[in-house]
Amino acid sequence: MRKKRDAPQAPVPLKICMLTPEYAPFAKVGGLGDCVASLSRYIAQLGYEVKVVLPKYSTFSLPSSVIEHPQPMIVNMGYGIEFAKVWELKEDNLSVYFLEFDRYFNRNGIYADRHGDFGDNHERFAFLARAAIDLCYYLNWIPDIFHGHDWTAGLLPVLLDTVERGRPLERSGSVFTIHNLQHHGYAPHSVLSFLGIPDHVFRPDGVEAFGQVNMMKAGLYFSTKLTTVSENYAKEIQTPHFGFGLDSVLKFRAGDLIGIRNGIDETLWSPEHDPLIMHHFSQNDFRGKAQCKAELQHYCRLPEDPTIPIFSVIARLYEQKGLDYLVRILESVLGQMRLQFVLLGSGDHELESQFIHIARHHQDQAFIYIGYNEPLAHLIEAGSDFFLMPSRFEPCGLNQMYSMRYGTLPIAHATGGLTDTITTYGEHPGTGFLFDDLSESALFHAIGKANALYYDQPEVILAMRRKAMEQDFSWKTSAERYVDVYRWAQKY
Ligand code: ADP
Ligand code: GLC
Repeated sequence: MRKKRDAPQAPVPLKICMLTPEYAPFAKVGGLGDCVASLSRYIAQLGYEVKVVLPKYSTFSLPSSVIEHPQPMIVNMGYGIEFAKVWELKEDNLSVYFLEFDRYFNRNGIYADRHGDFGDNHERFAFLARAAIDLCYYLNWIPDIFHGHDWTAGLLPVLLDTVERGRPLERSGSVFTIHNLQHHGYAPHSVLSFLGIPDHVFRPDGVEAFGQVNMMKAGLYFSTKLTTVSENYAKEIQTPHFGFGLDSVLKFRAGDLIGIRNGIDETLWSPEHDPLIMHHFSQNDFRGKAQCKAELQHYCRLPEDPTIPIFSVIARLYEQKGLDYLVRILESVLGQMRLQFVLLGSGDHELESQFIHIARHHQDQAFIYIGYNEPLAHLIEAGSDFFLMPSRFEPCGLNQMYSMRYGTLPIAHATGGLTDTITTYGEHPGTGFLFDDLSESALFHAIGKANALYYDQPEVILAMRRKAMEQDFSWKTSAERYVDVYRWAQKY
């Protein structure tokens, strides 16, 4: 008798443990929180088992569906044991674990409060890395992959490669995603003994830099595979200009590094389904966009005139975002062009007051909101005509993708993920406006060009809006690429 041919085997579902400092909507400072939350949900929907670990910060309250585990978990620190309380939010094969440990996380902020960055951030997130490993033991669950995000997760792969040798978690691979190479997370040498990590890793081709522990560098050296959030940024960070001193490490690990563009969560960010806007719209029917624009003008106490274009910004007001270039030309832009300007953001106090000062003199044209406001962010994306991103560097950028989904055309410096996601006017019809050199004049020129097109060639703007709205920024392709990376990083 002929042997029956084996049926093709379905790929074995992977078990993924995500370690993150942010997870939207609970804990979000910027795009990292959006990215990790939507990626985790998408990977879980593909059929993989995902457990996310983050602190239970006191900045938010948990939903009523969260379960409190009766037993506290043990965290095995280098100096002895600590106990943390475990809260779990479960949704099919995705579980989010919030670890409660008051000494580090019962504070008025995620990384900082109004007095500035917390001085013990390295200790807080070193503790979290150890706690993520101990949570797996507590749950009796061995993940195939630990997936860490940015410097806060940098010591996790070092633990796997040292303290965990000969223990069950030795078999887990690790993936480390760079969202922003600027922040390294410097820690004193003693952070190693704090976690019980042997001293031999404290060397230049390990975790050491300038006599301290560089947690980002630790992640880059010790993780099995590396990713970053756009293909262009993966190349840029291997150059001295964008490498923040770590370009040689990234070149050394180039064979293990790939760029995967972030996706966006279209259940939250799309003009058809956005739960935070009142009027929905699509590329075939822009009536809702016009209503959102009127509502935005009303909210911002600007003249409710549908014929004037709105140029907007939503950003953390830090050096990365290049808004100092904008503030230097804003007075001339408002003086010379017929447009309205809306900014939502907070950060650098000097920059905040410069924007406020200018807006005070142009109250019929400009509105500044200093602070964090999620519903307003959605209304701005939906109701604006143009969105400004003169970033010095931008690993991926989510806001330009959100803008394009709402037919709001980005005007951006051609860098990082902005280059990968925007096609510029000229490559007809284009989905936005990119400029190559970052300077006040290039930005002024780009704003002027967009504004002129708005008045002189509305049909071109309409075609650009439609093309922007048609782009596929979903997680589909990107999440599948992450699964490929997980398999690539798998040890057994
Ligand atoms: P980054 O992560 O560098 O800040 P991204 O473009 O990837 O840049 O993501 C920024 C995210 O943070 C977006 O979801 C944006 O809407 C949000 N955001 C930034 N500042 C504010 C604010 N002041 N209020 C509301 N949302 C904000
Ligand atoms: C970082 C980057 C931003 C990226 C986000 C999510 O905050 O600055 O460009 O979109 O992470 O990956």
